[in-house]
Amino acid sequence: MANRIMLNETSYHGAGAIQEIATEAKARGYKKAFVCSDPDLIKFGVTGKVTDVLDGAGLAYEIYSDIKANPTIENVQHGVAAFKAAEADYIIAIGGGSSMDTAKAIGIIIANPEFEDVRSLEGTAPTKNPCVPIIAVPTTAGTAAEVTINYVITDVEKKRKFVCVDPHDMPVIAVVDPDMMASMPKGLTASTGMDALTHAIEGYTTKAAWEMTDMFHLKAIEIISRSLRGAVANEKEGRDGMALGQYIAGMGFSNVGLGIAHSMAHTLGAVYDTPHGVACAMMLPIVMEYNQECTGEKYREIARAMGVKGVDDMSVDEYRKAAIDAVRQLSVDVGIPTKLEALKEEDLQFLAESAHADACAPGNPKDASVEDLKELFRKLM
Ligand SMILES: NC(=O)c1ccc[n+]([C@@H]2O[C@H](COP(=O)([O-])OP(=O)(O)OC[C@H]3O[C@@H](n4cnc5c(N)ncnc54)[C@H](O)[C@@H]3O)[C@@H](O)[C@H]2O)c1
Ligand SMILES: [Fe+2]
Repeated sequence: MANRIMLNETSYHGAGAIQEIATEAKARGYKKAFVCSDPDLIKFGVTGKVTDVLDGAGLAYEIYSDIKANPTIENVQHGVAAFKAAEADYIIAIGGGSSMDTAKAIGIIIANPEFEDVRSLEGTAPTKNPCVPIIAVPTTAGTAAEVTINYVITDVEKKRKFVCVDPHDMPVIAVVDPDMMASMPKGLTASTGMDALTHAIEGYTTKAAWEMTDMFHLKAIEIISRSLRGAVANEKEGRDGMALGQYIAGMGFSNVGLGIAHSMAHTLGAVYDTPHGVACAMMLPIVMEYNQECTGEKYREIARAMGVKGVDDMSVDEYRKAAIDAVRQLSVDVGIPTKLEALKEEDLQFLAESAHADACAPGNPKDASVEDLKELFRKLM
């Protein structure tokens, strides 16, 4: 089977990039924007940076903000109704993965109304039409949802998060402006940044990885490793690096998939509402240890990209340990916890079964049984 690469039609990068939104909207003849963002971003004036650009250019818009972190089926369905009422013709998604994923689901259902139940979009949905055009503006440096063909929705009733994979949801334009991320508090910068590192490492080692995606992932690991500490300290160089590094990771993993650190993180998000980045960061070194024997020489390149010296003189065991240690050290340095207090022994069976059924599980380099997953979750206790 041929390898497929899908990316945005256009992407803008760098401080001040949001100015391009007005130019693009006018050039494309868009009439009215449905601005999808979350309540905190509106409160903190982050969404306002973009609506100021729209106001300045005389462009019409309506704001939708009924979106919670780990967005739900209900958030999507209310959004679909609001989009129809707004009579908009494009979406501007402003936020982290939660706002961008909700926007994608809304845009897909508007163009493919037979999926209005949302649940039927799980996995690879056979939608026929591209979603409403989306201009995606990330405000976290983590998910890279602005350049992925995925979105993740929470089914509150069934206590699970489900991943939808659909090329029709790719945002037409991504506007990756580090100034939009500058207001992130330390903890959010750290956890979303570790999500990006998890994308890069899982994407690099996933079963479908190939030379072109390896290129994206290794570059992303390098940029994220050298930038995350600085971003957490709110330094410009660190913020710029994270904006770029997380996007490059997205260029890769969206096209080849992830692994069980993500399956397990999705489950923790659904059951305990654990922020996605925190869950990924906690799982990543545990899963790297579990996967190591199925990764050939890849951990040598991960260690090298993370700045470990002398990797060429190391034995297989040494460079694998060096890569895992480098990830653990970065996680500790940016203040990520290693234990999840909410986790309970009686939940393990459900968590493991749910992670086993997750769309990211088949991509893991080592096939993990429900029993294996239980053991891996137990390491968080
Ligand atoms: N589509 C994909 O490919 C993909 C990949 C990974 C994760 N995800 C999903 O994305 C979601 C997580 O997204 P996220 O980690 O970006 O966080 P988020 O969108 O859930 O936001 C978390 C919190 O951070 C706040 N916030 C965001 N940007 C801010 C800023 N600049 N300043 C101050 N506060 C800010 C938000 O208001 C919110 O309260 C999860 O549901 C996860 O499953 C999607
Ligand atoms: Fe993620």
